[in-house]
Amino acid sequence: MNKTTNKIRQDFLKFFKEKGHVIIPSSSLIPHNDSTLLFTNAGMNQFKEIFLGEKKSHHPRVATVQRCLRTGGKHNDLENVGYTSKHHTFFEMLGNFSFGDYFKQKAIEYAWELLTSKKWFEIPKNKLWVSVYKDDHETYKIWNNIIKIPSERIIRIGDKNNIQYNSENFWQMGDSGPCGPCTEIFYDYENKIIDNPLDFLENKNGRFVEIWNIVFIEFNRISNTKIISLKNKSIDTGMGLERISAVLQNVYSNYNIDIFQELIQNISKFSPLNNLNNVSLQVIADHIRSCVYIIADNITPSNEHRGYVLRRIIRRALRHGHKIGIKKNFFYKLVSSVIQIMGKTSDFLKEKQEKIEEILKIEEMQFSYTLDKGLKILNNEIKKINNNILSGKTAFYLYDTFGFPIDLTADVCREKNIKIDYTEYELSKEKQKKQSNINKKFHKNYNDKIIINNTCIFEGYKKNITKSLVKYIFVKNKSVENIKKNENGIIFLDKTAFYGESGGQIGDIGYLYSEKSSFMVENTKKYGKTIGHIGKLISGEITVNDSIYSQINEDYRHSIQLNHSATHLLHAALRKILGKNISQKGSLVTNKYLRFDFSYFRTIETSQIQKIENVINMNIRNNVKIETQELSLEEAKKKNAIALFDNQYSSIVRVVFINNFSIELCGGTHAKRTGDIGLFKIISQSSIASGTKRIEAVTGQKAIDYLHKTDNYIKDISLILNCNIFDIKEKTKKLTIIIKNLEEKIIQIQNKENTKNIKKLLKNITDIKGTKFLANIFYNYEHKLLRTIVDKLKEELKNVIIILINIKDNRFTVIVGVTKNLLNQITAIRIIDMITNETKGKGGGRDEIAEGGGVYTKKLPIILNNIKSWINKKLHKK
Ligand code: ALA
Repeated sequence: MNKTTNKIRQDFLKFFKEKGHVIIPSSSLIPHNDSTLLFTNAGMNQFKEIFLGEKKSHHPRVATVQRCLRTGGKHNDLENVGYTSKHHTFFEMLGNFSFGDYFKQKAIEYAWELLTSKKWFEIPKNKLWVSVYKDDHETYKIWNNIIKIPSERIIRIGDKNNIQYNSENFWQMGDSGPCGPCTEIFYDYENKIIDNPLDFLENKNGRFVEIWNIVFIEFNRISNTKIISLKNKSIDTGMGLERISAVLQNVYSNYNIDIFQELIQNISKFSPLNNLNNVSLQVIADHIRSCVYIIADNITPSNEHRGYVLRRIIRRALRHGHKIGIKKNFFYKLVSSVIQIMGKTSDFLKEKQEKIEEILKIEEMQFSYTLDKGLKILNNEIKKINNNILSGKTAFYLYDTFGFPIDLTADVCREKNIKIDYTEYELSKEKQKKQSNINKKFHKNYNDKIIINNTCIFEGYKKNITKSLVKYIFVKNKSVENIKKNENGIIFLDKTAFYGESGGQIGDIGYLYSEKSSFMVENTKKYGKTIGHIGKLISGEITVNDSIYSQINEDYRHSIQLNHSATHLLHAALRKILGKNISQKGSLVTNKYLRFDFSYFRTIETSQIQKIENVINMNIRNNVKIETQELSLEEAKKKNAIALFDNQYSSIVRVVFINNFSIELCGGTHAKRTGDIGLFKIISQSSIASGTKRIEAVTGQKAIDYLHKTDNYIKDISLILNCNIFDIKEKTKKLTIIIKNLEEKIIQIQNKENTKNIKKLLKNITDIKGTKFLANIFYNYEHKLLRTIVDKLKEELKNVIIILINIKDNRFTVIVGVTKNLLNQITAIRIIDMITNETKGKGGGRDEIAEGGGVYTKKLPIILNNIKSWINKKLHKK
């Protein structure tokens, strides 16, 4: 009887437990404290800091079964799903790790024992091949001399394009981070045993499949070109659970292993198809697993960042459902099946099942309508194509109007051997972005004019979605009965989850939708007592009195909330550090950052800024509950709540409490606890008017990103200066002194040079009607020095006209000197004008001395000749 996938998972952990490893749970799909990764892509991610020596591990040996997602960055398999039977977006990685404990030999021996021994996986030894990094002789010898694999089955793999470590046998987590050479173990799927390395390299029909990768972590990649050795050498291994299951269950395709077969059977019940090997069933099976796990880790579909990865996967799966004739909403119904097949590892999913189903259902409802229409258009376009290229404009139209992610369109095209004109696609996207910025400005003006007698209840303090009734629709500033596809407009409801811009907090974005329509909300504003949802109808039609869901974009709102609560903390901290007299003058709370203006007449010192940050971050670390209460204005005043006294308040006010530290009247939305903010960082401090200061700050991941950015700058500078980061200041001081000394030396040298040059110049002096004339062109000379020459010569020669030009980098500067005795006939300004007029230049000065510069250097010799003739005439006239 073959081992089930669940048993293989258990056996793996049992084996390593027996070998002294501590079993650690999988970490989340969302890497914490690591902005270099969108999703967890390997078992080693959660141990990154330990590998780098930044953190100590409690255990030198551990083993995990890690949920991984490879949909972007260095490791991206999204496009392979549906085209190979060995790749997944979501998969489980079995891994054992040693942190400075055992190294190459033990790691290889363990892997070999688990794979081949009778007690464990019992794979015949002659079915296994291995690869090693070209220079890793030590590993080669271990395989050859100790494990006794014949040399024909040990393949050395080199670097691609001659770039060091650019190799299949050098593993790195991403563009930076822990890395090292690796050795990979392959399973040979054919019965005929061969010993020919060339057959291995050719790998016809994918007969050799990599099942286990053992990485010798020895380095930290800092950048493209820089890699440094780590103090401790460590082991990181990864074996795809689905692949080893396929081997042990005697099937080739991962999709034929027990858990996938069960899932695929369940999916096929929704389709009229009978063929269980259909690729679309496999794609859906892969994608539903990803979606379930991503949503379980609190990501919701959206148009940016992780939310957009999720949305792309969902929509790609729905397209495959459409392809195999599934007519009804089905995707969300697969969640229970995923939970079932994943066995014990998925216990934590059970409590989230309902939420996951709800989110998938809404996304499916919204998209299925546009999917059908968009596909018709795409198929029609494809029929018309004669050069195998789909125009980027069409791809963009599908994206913009029907919500087709570009990879969905590419997937349809690839099935028909058609490519997309990506350049044109990007151009169209860019153009639309510009246009929409213009429209936004335009919208703002006419929106404000709407006066409407409607009351909308804001339910968004507690809910992200409401079922509402459409009360009014405005298109082009006029009240209308319905809004049609592609029309921009404003929709007013009886109640909503959308927060209308006010109190500094920006409006929400999201969707209003029903079974038959979808309206994309790009902004939300208050109009008297009601709330306007401003946006564009992307599918169907919406009519007054329709029932509709209003659903905000949760990621967007979440970021706004963090910034709003952080603004309250900032306000309280400013009062604590700068004094109670500061008063709020304005505030802006967005999803990206917060801005706070306040009156304060003195300079704010760096030490005060740091104190403010410390107070706020301490409150964040204390993870205080953020509570709201509705109180009478009197009660609120008694509690010393901060309010904007210029504002008119009603008798009952909403007060936001962050312990006793911050008590503030506020109608906005907030985080649940201060800990949600994660981190607070001031990014700028300025004075915007006399006595009014402005502070801008970021929170959460944005704050971490900001610190990484500044950190990288400092590191780059330290690399350039070739010193430790804490020595930058001293080194820069020293360099400044060196530069100053060098400049002085250069001036001395140049002065000497100058004296020589003046002597030479004297030889070039000509005589025009008894007046001396000197014109000279220098190359790459110091402009400052020209002035000294002019002054000296004027003083010595008394009756002279001097024009000195310096050409540098295809431009020139010029200085003209005329002695006093000539000024009633000729002036320096006049000569400068003659030069600059003809050379696209500019200049100015006095009659005796003037300076300028220009571009057309080639014209200068002719101009100088003309000037000479002009002077000749002028002097003649006298
Ligand atoms: N981290 C290694 C991999 O993902 C084991 O292949």
